[in-house]
Amino acid sequence: MTVTPVRWADDRLVLLDQTRLPVEEVEQGFERWEDVATAIRSLVVRGAPAIGVAAAYAVALAARASHATTFDALLADLETAARGLAATRPTAVNLCWAVERVKRVALSARARPLAEIRARLLAEAHAIREEDIAGNHAIGAHGAALVPAGARILTHCNAGALATAGYGTALGVVRAAHAAGKVALVWVDETRPVLQGARLTAWECVREGIPHRLISDVAAASVMARGQVDLVVTGADRIAANGDTANKVGTYSLAVLARHHGVPFYVAAPFSTIDPALPSGAGIPIEERDPAEVRCVGGRQIAPLESPVYNPAFDVTPAALITAIVTERGVFRPPYRF
Ligand code: MRU
Repeated sequence: MTVTPVRWADDRLVLLDQTRLPVEEVEQGFERWEDVATAIRSLVVRGAPAIGVAAAYAVALAARASHATTFDALLADLETAARGLAATRPTAVNLCWAVERVKRVALSARARPLAEIRARLLAEAHAIREEDIAGNHAIGAHGAALVPAGARILTHCNAGALATAGYGTALGVVRAAHAAGKVALVWVDETRPVLQGARLTAWECVREGIPHRLISDVAAASVMARGQVDLVVTGADRIAANGDTANKVGTYSLAVLARHHGVPFYVAAPFSTIDPALPSGAGIPIEERDPAEVRCVGGRQIAPLESPVYNPAFDVTPAALITAIVTERGVFRPPYRF
């Protein structure tokens, strides 16, 4: 069953509201870039590639809404939107990558009529979406080749169809391996604080009929210690030039556990997640989110409101703990040269 988190229909951007899954499947339509920015910030759409695609459409929406009559005025409006979108979630490099890619199309069409430029920006957003889906199928094929028969795979957060334009990265590897009959079980980490594993990855596994078992994050160590995990595969939000990888908080501890237990640890991501400008993970900006995400579960308070909270949304796994990085261009192993 195809999951479509980001699509263009009836002249507007349509997002599947991931904050309401798995209880309700509700879509929302967007015509203003500012509302898309709010949707990205509030996790209506989330996952590095998916927010990149949504932001690309948001720039196209900004161009459409602009009253500019000259190229320079249009560009100024696009830059305002680009800055506003880039500020929503700082860790996932795909967001800036997609926004810059759409902006470059405008710059290269400077001499063309504004109506044509607006149309070209929308076409570029469509292209980014289509390329993401195709790339994820390639990631799945490369990654599935690494999966042994009868594999028990542990994954964290949601790097599935919901986190991309479709099919998924880490869960794309699981999907492809499952289609090849190689998957015995997927261990799904619930992924505190906002439970993307429990709410979203488990939901995708149910829809696809992928055998899975949900565990609380704190159970991963004992499952590995019992020899019940053959490999770990996660997504990524930003990969530095040396292979250091930012992903959902909790990924680093899984990589340490995997190393301790001799379990291969794979990262699956599109090439657009690699940030060649950063020599190492030390330079990756880590988003800190609302303390309420930690003090509450499902909107219900579980801690004193007075307790100070530290809520980093991501952590950085050193390249030394990563067995290989799977992209649509193939499998990269250390020392990483992308
Ligand atoms: O905060 P989120 O839900 O956007 O975090 C998502 C992740 O960390 C994913 O693993 C990552 O973006 C890769 S998605 C293909």
